[in-house]
Amino acid sequence: MQLFDVYPLYDIEPVQGKGARVWDTEGVEYLDFYGGHAVISIGHAHQHYVKMISEQVAQLGFYSNSIINSLQTTLANKLGECSQLHDYQLFLINSGAEANENALKLASFHNGRTKIIAFQKAFHGRTSAAVNITPDPKLVAPINATFEREFHPLNDLQSVKTSILKGDVCAVIVEGIQGIGGIYLPDADFLREVQTLCHQTNTVFILDEIQSGYGRSGKFFAYQHIEGLQPDLITMAKGMGNGFPIGGVLIHPKFKPKYGLLGTTFGGNHLACAAAIAVLDVLKEEHLMENAAAIGAYLLPKLRALPMVKEVRGIGLMIGIEFEFSTAIMRKNLAFKHKVFVGSSSDPCIIRLLPPLSITKEEADCLLEKLALAIAELEPVAV
Ligand SMILES: Cc1ncc(COP(=O)(O)O)c(C=O)c1O
Repeated sequence: MQLFDVYPLYDIEPVQGKGARVWDTEGVEYLDFYGGHAVISIGHAHQHYVKMISEQVAQLGFYSNSIINSLQTTLANKLGECSQLHDYQLFLINSGAEANENALKLASFHNGRTKIIAFQKAFHGRTSAAVNITPDPKLVAPINATFEREFHPLNDLQSVKTSILKGDVCAVIVEGIQGIGGIYLPDADFLREVQTLCHQTNTVFILDEIQSGYGRSGKFFAYQHIEGLQPDLITMAKGMGNGFPIGGVLIHPKFKPKYGLLGTTFGGNHLACAAAIAVLDVLKEEHLMENAAAIGAYLLPKLRALPMVKEVRGIGLMIGIEFEFSTAIMRKNLAFKHKVFVGSSSDPCIIRLLPPLSITKEEADCLLEKLALAIAELEPVAV
């Protein structure tokens, strides 16, 4: 049987990992500034994480959501503590797209409406409703395009305001920091004003923190850098399980649960909870949010000082480096020659840095050195 060939692959097969390093089948070591697409939060093969998952699978790997699973309660309590959102409620699923799918459902149940406002350059996932609010027509099949949605420029308040004030919008969904689009940050005043407009019109305000959450920005959620925000729904996944598939929706107390309203077979299973609990333990014990903030602050000015860099955006360990030219060759050179993984973006001129939050200053220096080399190699071509 052949695999359904939808991914253009790099010819590298990592088979082992530790912290921010991975090794391929030949034993070649790579520095991981991609984090497997912003997924590796506490580092590869963390001892506590391996122990928690191994012990759990030996004990009980799975049972259904029709019995008590106190690991879910433990996870919810730890999440309340780490995010400081003690009064929110938690619904567990398996991926980011599912988190957004369920958030959109909750919003629509809440106010009975169907029209969604999202933003240009956004990405919210591949499932039916999530992909319909992702502004890339190549990803949207006719069966997905079942409700009205509008894509506004990020931070264009007037454009969003006119639309929300019509009073027929179900929800506004915005990434804490736009990821795949190329690392664009929503303005504080913009988000605060959108929240106020949502409250005035009974529109649901959703923060997609799937990529920007879980400590990556230096705060638990990226929106928490901004005073005065209290989203109705917050979606998360990626860093939550450090590679074990798990996602979640944090739900404001004004939403009242009802049996059968949402449901899933695998969401919140024992193994996923063990993984997610281990992640929060390590995040707290090893002060990884503080580390993300510190290493990000260390990297940003140094990245801005590199030659040929047009702009550097980001906060913590979610960083976009924009060049005047396509970075495809440079990224290949970084991986194959300099043994450093970095991320791409939907804009070929932008490289994304999404390393594990445990990255050290020495590893950051190593990245800077390799990046400078890769840029120097390109100079004769680019001028
Ligand atoms: C902001 C954002 N939302 C949603 C998703 C979809 O998550 P998943 O691929 O886990 O379904 C992603 C994935 O890259 C994302 O970056």
